[in-house]
Amino acid sequence: MSHRPTATPGSDIAAWWASAVVYQIYPRSFADANGDGMGDLLGVTARLPYLQRLGVDAIWLSPFYKSPQADAGYDVADYRQVDPMFGRLDDFDGMLRKAHSLGLKVIVDLVPNHTSDEHIWFQEALAAPPGSAERDRYMFRPGKDQVAGSGDGNLAPNNWKSIFGGPAWTRTTNPDGSSGDWYLHLFDTKQPDLNWENPEVQEEMRSVLRFWLDRGVDGFRVDVAHGMVKEAGLPDWDGVAAMVEGSADAGHLPDAPGAHSDAVEPHTAHHHHDPAGDDHSADNAGHQPVSPLYPPSPFFDQDGVHEIYRDWNRVLAGYDGDRMLVAEAWVEPAERLARYIRKDEMQQAFNFDFLLAGWDAQRMAVAIEDSLEAAASVGAPSTWVLSNHDTVRHTSRFGLADPTTFPKGIAAEDEQPDAGLGLARARAATLVSLALPGSTYVYQGEELGLPEHTTLPAEARQDPTFFRTNGIERGRDGCRVPLPWKSGEPGYGFADAYAGGGPSDGVSSGAGPSDGFSSDGGPGHRPPAPPWLPQPESFGELAADRQDGVEGSTLELYRSALSLRKRHGLGSGSFCWADMHDPELGVLAFQNRDILVIANMGTEPTPVPDGYHVELSSAPGAGAAEAAFGEAAFRERAFDEPAVVGASAGRPASHASAAASAALLGGTLDAAVIAPNTAAYLVAG
Ligand code: NOJ
Repeated sequence: MSHRPTATPGSDIAAWWASAVVYQIYPRSFADANGDGMGDLLGVTARLPYLQRLGVDAIWLSPFYKSPQADAGYDVADYRQVDPMFGRLDDFDGMLRKAHSLGLKVIVDLVPNHTSDEHIWFQEALAAPPGSAERDRYMFRPGKDQVAGSGDGNLAPNNWKSIFGGPAWTRTTNPDGSSGDWYLHLFDTKQPDLNWENPEVQEEMRSVLRFWLDRGVDGFRVDVAHGMVKEAGLPDWDGVAAMVEGSADAGHLPDAPGAHSDAVEPHTAHHHHDPAGDDHSADNAGHQPVSPLYPPSPFFDQDGVHEIYRDWNRVLAGYDGDRMLVAEAWVEPAERLARYIRKDEMQQAFNFDFLLAGWDAQRMAVAIEDSLEAAASVGAPSTWVLSNHDTVRHTSRFGLADPTTFPKGIAAEDEQPDAGLGLARARAATLVSLALPGSTYVYQGEELGLPEHTTLPAEARQDPTFFRTNGIERGRDGCRVPLPWKSGEPGYGFADAYAGGGPSDGVSSGAGPSDGFSSDGGPGHRPPAPPWLPQPESFGELAADRQDGVEGSTLELYRSALSLRKRHGLGSGSFCWADMHDPELGVLAFQNRDILVIANMGTEPTPVPDGYHVELSSAPGAGAAEAAFGEAAFRERAFDEPAVVGASAGRPASHASAAASAALLGGTLDAAVIAPNTAAYLVAG
C-alpha cells in the first residue's frame, strides 16, 4: 500500500453504520436488573446512559430470544419472543425507545443457520415421517450404509465434524423406538441446521427480519453468515473447520470417550497439554492460527449464501433509516469476505483477520492493508474488532508469551497472561483500532480493561465447546463473565441496577426509580443472587466506579479516544502509512486526517517526530495507573519501562509513587519517545 493518502473505502457512504463504533452487549453478563444473577434487558436499559457517555454510536445485543440456552442463546426456540430470563418484549421495546432517544442505534443478533431443537419446527420434524414437509425444513438424511444398501443406517451420512467438537450428525429415534434418520448440526446437538433450499425457511427468516425491523431495530448481526448453504450431495471433507479459526485441533478431536456420544464429561484439565497422550492440541501447543479453509469446506462460504443476502438487502431496502446487516463470517482470504459486502448484499462484515493478527506490527499491518484493499474493491467500509464473546479478551491474549497466539479459552493449568503487559498492549491496540477509518466493534468490558477469567474451575464452565471437546478447548466462558460496575458491592455491582437509586449517569448505579424499574421485590428486599459465572478478584479494582473520572484509567482512555475520533472524523477519514511506519521494527504508524497514530509494538522506544505533540496516549496518566492496571500490577511493572511522553503525558500524579513519577517525567520531555507497548495519537504543531 502506498504512502499516499487513500480515501476510506466507503467514505462516500453517508449511512451511520459506515463509521459507527458499535458496542457489543452480551445480555447475560451486562447488567442484572432483577437480581437473579443473570443480565437482562432492563439492566441494559439502565446502563444506556453509561454507553452514551462512553461515546459509542450503536449497540449490538447477542441473542435474548426464547432459548433453552444450550449455546447461551445461539440456540433459538422462538425468534419473536424474549426469553423470560431476559424480560419481556415490552422490555425490549422500552430499551429500544430509550436507546434511540439517547441517539444510539440498536443491532440485534439473527441466528439463521440453525434453530434450537426445542423450536416448534424441529419438534414437528421429529414427529413427522422421513420425506415429510416438516423434515424438509432441516437437514435430515438416512445413514450412509443405508443409502448404499449395505446396512441399517448406523453410519452417519458423512464425516463432518461439529465446530464445537464431536460429530456433526445425531441420529433420531422413531416414535416406535427404532433408530431413524440423522440430522445435521454444525454446532451443538441442540442446534439443528436449517435447510436453506426450502422456500418456507427462506420466507420465515424474511418474516423474522420484518418482525424486528417493524419494531424499529437498526440492523442485524448475522450469525454464521457463511454457513447456511451446504454443497450439494454433502460430500465428505477431511479439512479443519472452526468457528474461531485458531487452532489446528479444532474439528479434529481425539477418539475420546464421548467423541461419538455428544455428552462428554470433561477430562481433568492437565490432560490438555499431555504430549504423550492422544491429544491433538499438543500438535499445536502454541495454538497458532491456521488457515481453516484448505481444502475449502463444503459447508462454509458456498456461493449460494450470497443469494440470501441479496434477498435480505431487498427486505431492508423497504425500510427507512439505513438499516444494516453485519456478517459474522470466518472467511479467508479478505477478498472472499469482501463478497459479503458487495453493494447489493450486506453492509458490513467483521474483520477477524485484524483480530487474529495479535500484538504484532507486521501481521497487523498486513491485516490492515488487506482489509482496506478488499473493502475498497467492493466500495464498502472496513470494520475493526479485537474481542468478542467467542474469543479470549485481547487484554489477556496480548499478555501471553507469544501475543499472537489464539487459545480457545484459558484455564488455571495453562500459561497465565501477564496482566499489566496485556493491558498496556490492549490499550495501545484499541487506540489503533479506533483510529482506523471504518466501523469499529467494542466488546463489553473492554473499556474497563477487563481481562479474561483465566482460572475458572471446570464446575463453573458452561460453554458446550468445553464439554464437547472433553475439556481440550477451555471454552468461551472466560470472556463472558458478568461486568463489574461497583467495586464494593456483591458481584461487583453486576446487580447494581437492582439496588436502584443513585445518579443517572449510568455508572454509579443503574437506574433510579424514575426509570420505571419493576425488579421483583424491589430495592433492598433481598440480596441479589451471585452472578451466573464467578468473577475474578481483579474485577474489583477494575469496576466502572473505580475508573469513572480517573484520568488515564482505561474507561477514560476509551472516552477520550471515542470523543477524539468523533471530533476528528476518523471513522470516515483517510488512511496512509506514515514515513516512520516500520513494522519490522515493530512500529506501526499511519495518518488519518490530521491525526498521526503511532503504535510501538517493538522493544525499543520510538521517537515522537519533530513538530508533533501527543494528543492522547495509551500510557496511563500517572495518577490513574492504579485504576488502569490494578494496584499490584502498577507497582510491579506499569512503569518499569519508559513511558510514552509528550506534551500532555507528563503530569505528576497525586498517588503515583516517586519512581513512577520519575519514570514519567525523568528527562523525557526533551527527548520524547513512545515506549514499547504503547500507542499515541499525535498532531502537528
Ligand atoms: C457464532 C456465535 O458468535 C457463537 O457464540 C455461537 O456459538 C455460534 N455462532 C453458533 O451459533
